[in-house]
Amino acid sequence: MTIDIKKFAGCRILVAGDLMVDEYLWGDVERISPEAPVQIVSVASEEHTLGGAGNVISNLVALGAKVSAAGVIGSGTNGELVLTKLNALGVNTQGVVQDPQRPTTRKTRIIADHQHVLRFDREVKTEISRQTMNKIARAAAEMSADADLILVSDYGKGLITKALMTKLIAAAQKHNKLLIVDPKGLDFKKYAGASLITPNKKETALAAGIEIVDEDSLAKAARRLIEKTGIDKILVTCGKEGMVYFEQDTRPYRIGTKARQVFDVSGAGDSVLAVLGLGIAAGYSIKEAVALANTAAGIVVGKVGTATVSKTELAAALNLIPALER
Ligand SMILES: Nc1ncnc2c1ncn2[C@@H]1O[C@H](COP(=O)(O)OP(=O)(O)OP(=O)(O)O)[C@@H](O)[C@H]1O
Ligand SMILES: [Mg+2]
Repeated sequence: MTIDIKKFAGCRILVAGDLMVDEYLWGDVERISPEAPVQIVSVASEEHTLGGAGNVISNLVALGAKVSAAGVIGSGTNGELVLTKLNALGVNTQGVVQDPQRPTTRKTRIIADHQHVLRFDREVKTEISRQTMNKIARAAAEMSADADLILVSDYGKGLITKALMTKLIAAAQKHNKLLIVDPKGLDFKKYAGASLITPNKKETALAAGIEIVDEDSLAKAARRLIEKTGIDKILVTCGKEGMVYFEQDTRPYRIGTKARQVFDVSGAGDSVLAVLGLGIAAGYSIKEAVALANTAAGIVVGKVGTATVSKTELAAALNLIPALER
């Protein structure tokens, strides 16, 4: 497979999904609280990054894509943080709608003496209001006309309702664009009309209602989802076992991972969605894009903290360094 990573630059991707703030607090533990038998973490530094669909966007931008975003934020400082970060990445935020009735999803991790000791989430998962949905759908429909491809990153936070999904799919079909979904939840029927979905193994088992214990049950579950949703392309990500791509009436395409030191597997799914979409938008076949996504995710899990992969890293992993302009 010859891949020209330079082709990623200028690809235009619309990302609709649950935007979040990932907050990290690092500190030291010097004593136990006098108030309760708990550690006192003295916070030494903190960092805020884009999470959820925002992490998909970070991955796309790191590879040179031009991104537009659709989603919901609250009216407070966390919502502003999301907007500021998206703007700093050069993202078109026309579809990022502020709803003062909702908080911006924030996941806070506390890392004390290099140990992850606690995470707390501030969020609501209720469905967005009809008014917010209509605003987002209108902007997304407009932006999809200028996009090469649409990605939907559903983290189950109430944004990707059946109603919004229906409108996103209608926009994709109207403009003849592929739409790829990283799904959540038990009912995948709401994604009907999507071109491809990328559930992990656990999500596949839950949505299909089939326990996955081996190759056969995995294939059975994927086929069941194809039947249930009418979506004929499914990429099941299988953590350290890599991924398997299923397409109606063809043999599954399995791709393994390279043995490597793993530091942080969170966000691997976001990198898969981003690189798969970008690969297809750049003109590669789905199987080629699947292989690219697998390589990219393998790099990301080997990194501490930042969860994106650069063009140079991806090229190096594909042994393409000479083909890159330095
Ligand atoms: N331990 C690992 N070693 C190598 N590659 C890995 C490992 N874990 C994940 N990956 C890569 O990342 C891809 C996605 O991982 P996974 O199936 O865990 O997705 P996910 O559950 O959606 O991830 P997350 O929700 O944490 O972002 C895998 O298909 C594989 O390419
Ligand atoms: Mg995932």
